[in-house]
Amino acid sequence: MYKNTNTNNTSNTNCVSIIVIGAGLIGPRHAEHVVNRPNTSLFAIVDHSAKGPSVAQRFQVPLYKDLNELFEYCDKYNVKYPDAAIIATPNHTHVPLGLHLASKGIHLLVEKPLSPNAQDSKTLIEFCKEKNVKLLIGHHRRFNPYIITCKENLPKLGQVVAVQGTWTLCKPDSYFEEKPWRSSQTLGGGALLINLIHDLDNLQYLFGPVEKVYAELLMKQRAQRGSDVNAAVDEGAVLTLRFANGICGTFLCSDNVVSPFSFESGTGENPTIPFNDEVAGFYRIFGSHGTLSVPDFKLYHQHNQPVRSWLNPVEEHQVKMAFEVQKEIEVEEQDDVVMFGIATPDNSPNTKEDNLFSHHSHVSSEKPKPFDLQVDHFVNLILGKETEVKCSGEDALRALLCIEAVGKSIETGLPQVVPSIDDIEMNMELFT
Ligand SMILES: NC(=O)c1ccc[n+]([C@@H]2O[C@H](COP(=O)([O-])OP(=O)(O)OC[C@H]3O[C@@H](n4cnc5c(N)ncnc54)[C@H](O)[C@@H]3O)[C@@H](O)[C@H]2O)c1
Repeated sequence: MYKNTNTNNTSNTNCVSIIVIGAGLIGPRHAEHVVNRPNTSLFAIVDHSAKGPSVAQRFQVPLYKDLNELFEYCDKYNVKYPDAAIIATPNHTHVPLGLHLASKGIHLLVEKPLSPNAQDSKTLIEFCKEKNVKLLIGHHRRFNPYIITCKENLPKLGQVVAVQGTWTLCKPDSYFEEKPWRSSQTLGGGALLINLIHDLDNLQYLFGPVEKVYAELLMKQRAQRGSDVNAAVDEGAVLTLRFANGICGTFLCSDNVVSPFSFESGTGENPTIPFNDEVAGFYRIFGSHGTLSVPDFKLYHQHNQPVRSWLNPVEEHQVKMAFEVQKEIEVEEQDDVVMFGIATPDNSPNTKEDNLFSHHSHVSSEKPKPFDLQVDHFVNLILGKETEVKCSGEDALRALLCIEAVGKSIETGLPQVVPSIDDIEMNMELFT
């Protein structure tokens, strides 16, 4: 443990102090965003592994090996507890850590999945309410410009009828060798719980709750190299989905095929996975009046045809994300300054597309960073500047319930109704 020099107990009402628990793959990424935002300070790193000291040193903050050590230190030296915590540890540890932190009144941003099982997740949700603690879950794609643009453009499709999605890529052996929990179903490993849950959250964010699911497990290729085929974690599945509002979908998830058709490859959101800007259609959303392909944002339509018909051509419109529109405006303005020595006003017809599909807002021309937006939202919730949680415990529980239904469908060979979150009991054993 390094000494915590943060002995100033007067709280700055506009700055939120945050600990990051977990110095593995994703924890340091959170820490990086915490140190770079204007209203946050990184209080400490908490991790017992050999990686802890180098991560704490990199961010020049104290390291505690566990929460007990942190709280003991604060109590002994009269240091104010951190305001908030980001839990970036293996899935099965999220709820015990969350309960401990919430019991001290510390607000929580918990990495997805909320936990590997629904009862434990429900317990943490209810406990946070009781303790008046904010709970945000790290389904950060809700802050991603691709998902935001997709949601904004759904009305242009008329009645959405169906969706088709793909998340396919190849995790190397080292991913599993480095961290044994990723190969253990009971500790929350497997492509369904680690990865598919992201896409199911995206789809529920776009189309509302999934009501029924049927799934077929993909063949396990990694297990064939190991000894116990049945004990190995899943490598993905194929799903059919029915949403409560009648929309139907299919989805293919595999973490063991070579393919660029994944959210990460197609959007470049994960710095460790190469961005492929030619990927088209990892989601395709079909509506009565058009089809939207994501992440390429081709909008297929027949708005200029007398009737919607297979006898008429389908036209293509390029939807742009808000930051791309803003970038174009800035480039045009710059060109005008160079050519005429004057800036073109923003509302000039020359600087705005005025067709049916354009949308404009005054936004930055930089590609937004979802982890920045997520931590800003977390801070705003804590400071009371925002009240509606963008990914609540209930939202995350809904995604988890879909994953559990996928698991049951694979087990039974039958379609499964996804239970309502109201039907989930708490796990009171967590308090004994
Ligand atoms: N949002 C995303 O895109 C994204 C990406 C990757 C991982 N994740 C999620 O983040 C979480 C962490 O994944 P990871 O791949 O970084 O894991 P990891 O195994 O690489 O790192 C976890 C770290 O937590 C530490 N740890 C474990 N238990 C602890 C405890 N009780 N107290 C303190 N430290 C403890 C470990 O020592 C390890 O360093 C998982 O829930 C995963 O699903 C999310």
